[in-house]
Order: sequence, then C-alpha cells, then structure tokens
Amino acid sequence: MSDSGSNSKEDNKINNHSINNSKKVSLTGDRPTGRLHLGHFVGSLKSRVEFQHQYDQYIMIADTQALTDYFENPQRVIDNVYEVVSDYLAVGIDPTLSTIFIQSQIKALSELTMYYMNLVTVSRLERNPTVKTELAQKSFAQSVPVGFLCYPISQAADITAFKAEIVPAGEDQAPLIEQTNEIVRKFNGLYKTNVLKEAKLHLSNTGRLVGIDGKAKASKSLNNAIFLSDTSEVIKEKVYSMYTDPDHIKVSDPGKVENNVVFTYLDAFCENKEEIDVLKSQYRKGGLGDVALKSMLNKILQDLLEPIRERRSQLHRKDLIEICFEGTKKAKTIANQTVQEVREAIGINFFEKIQL
Ligand code: TRP
Repeated sequence: MSDSGSNSKEDNKINNHSINNSKKVSLTGDRPTGRLHLGHFVGSLKSRVEFQHQYDQYIMIADTQALTDYFENPQRVIDNVYEVVSDYLAVGIDPTLSTIFIQSQIKALSELTMYYMNLVTVSRLERNPTVKTELAQKSFAQSVPVGFLCYPISQAADITAFKAEIVPAGEDQAPLIEQTNEIVRKFNGLYKTNVLKEAKLHLSNTGRLVGIDGKAKASKSLNNAIFLSDTSEVIKEKVYSMYTDPDHIKVSDPGKVENNVVFTYLDAFCENKEEIDVLKSQYRKGGLGDVALKSMLNKILQDLLEPIRERRSQLHRKDLIEICFEGTKKAKTIANQTVQEVREAIGINFFEKIQL
C-alpha cells in the first residue's frame, strides 16, 4: 500500500506550485493518438491557457483511454505522448501553473474505476450518445471490448479523483460529464458522503471546428486538419485547398457564406469581427474572390502558428519528461487522497492505521 495515501510534506510542494485548496479545480485530457490541431486549439487549448491563471488546472495525457482504441497498436499511443505535451507547451500551457500528468501512471484511477463500475449498468453505457456514435463508427458488431464500453467510467474516475468542477472540452464530451455526475450522485447518495464533486463542462465560444474539406469536424483520422506543428508551406497548401462555395466560379458571382470553410475559419481566428461582416456581405453580393479571402486567412493562421511552431522547436525531450514526471508525482498524491476518502466512505479502509 506504499503507493496509496502517502502524503508527505515533500509531495505537497512539487515543481514550485504547492497544492492550492482555495482555487477550484479544472481538469481536461487528450488521447495521445496524434499531434494536436486547430480544432483542439479553439475547442479547448485556448481556454486552458486562460484557465491556468484562474483554476488549479490538471491536464492529463489520456494514454490509458487511448489504449481502449489502440490496444493492438500501443506504439501509436507511446509515440504521441510527448508530441501532445510539446503542443501544450508550445501554445502557452505553463507547467508551473498547470499540472501535466500521464494517466497510466496513476494507479488510483484504476481503483476508482473499479468501484464506480458497480454503479453503472451496461445499458446505460450503451445509451451514452458519445459511445453510441463511436460504436457505430467502429463496427464491433457483437464483440465490443469491455474496456471500450467502460471508458466513460474511467473518465469519471479521472474527473472525480481531482475533484474537478470545471472541464474545458468540446461538446462531444458532454455525455461523459453527465455520466460522471450520475456516478457522483449515486456514490454520494449510496455511501452517505460528499467526497465526490460534480463537474461542469466548459464549452468554448467557437464550438467545433470543421475540417478543411467542410465535411465533418477537423480530425487527424480524416486528414482534414491543420496541425499546430504544420510547416508554413503545408498551412498555405491546406488553406488554399479549403472548401468554399462550389457555385462561386467567377469573382463577380454572388457567393455563399454558410458552410464556406474559409469564412468558418475567419470567424474562428480573425479578431476583427466587423471586417469579417463587411467581407461576408461583399462575398454574398459578388465581387470578392476566394483567392483574396484565402490569402487573408493564410496570413492570419501563419501569424498565429509561427510562434507556436518556433516554441515547439526549442523544446527538449529531457525537459518534457521532467515536466510529466513532476506533474504525475503531484497528481498521484491528490488521486491517492481521494481514493483513501472513497475507501473510507465505502468502509473498506482496512489496516489504515497499521504500518504494513
Ligand atoms: N475523452 C477525452 C478525448 O477523447 C479525453 C479525456 C480522458 C478527458 N479523460 C478526460 C477529457 C477527462 C476531459 C476530462 O479527448
């Protein structure tokens, strides 16, 4: 039991940031299955950069959750752990303000998952809209792996282990937060406690970003995303290949703004909203060409991504490992405390006062 419940002074002061009980906790995570892209940036990374000043923020590399999808190809997950951490640091997540940690290294999360499994039915998991969509995409037929079906329970463990009240994430995570809160209410009610806290999803103003093809959300598997680490040439190429209005052939033709990806991205990334409104009405009337718009968007994205790419290129693997190591150490202390309280609430805190 040496791993659980240790709470020395040493553990409480890690990486120059002590555990701060006065701030609310925020927690998010990303599955490390590829580098992060602009969809992640507007959907969640931007808020995290702000939130790290307001909240006690935890950011989790969800490698265990990624394995529910990639258990046959763990290398993909392993290879992307530090890619994602690099993206975090490059966009301005500061490891002295945010605790970055690796999910698989926190055994307490597995233990919490085990207790929560008793509180959720199989049919409830099958009805979870996010799980339902994913099941439909994966064609498991009758052979759904138990690990996959249970990942919402493990996500509830991630959130509650840190008593997170805020989860900055995309809309697709709403059913997972709802599942978490159901578990919280059930646990607290059943074991007559208030150890676990309910969480709230924090959605970005921009919402989900479409892919450059305009078909679906930007995603690495659909190969329609602009990555934070793309080179300047690749960014330009992607911007110029964006879906616009297929009926807008000549510059003088009236064009459609709705479902026009260039405008969607201008809405998301251009600070000057009035200018965009003027361009939209001009485009609708006719007389504004796609190339002019794409060149404007290209400039905006190049300006946004160049410093990110520059910061990314200066990072050293050794420092990334150190940051994750320290963050994981701190996260372990907190998660162990929660597990201890959870065991107490259930009544299975045997041998607590005895040194084994
Ligand atoms: N499900 C999230 C995703 O697919 C990753 C994740 C795991 C997460 N645990 C979390 C997000 C806890 C928010 C909170 O990207």
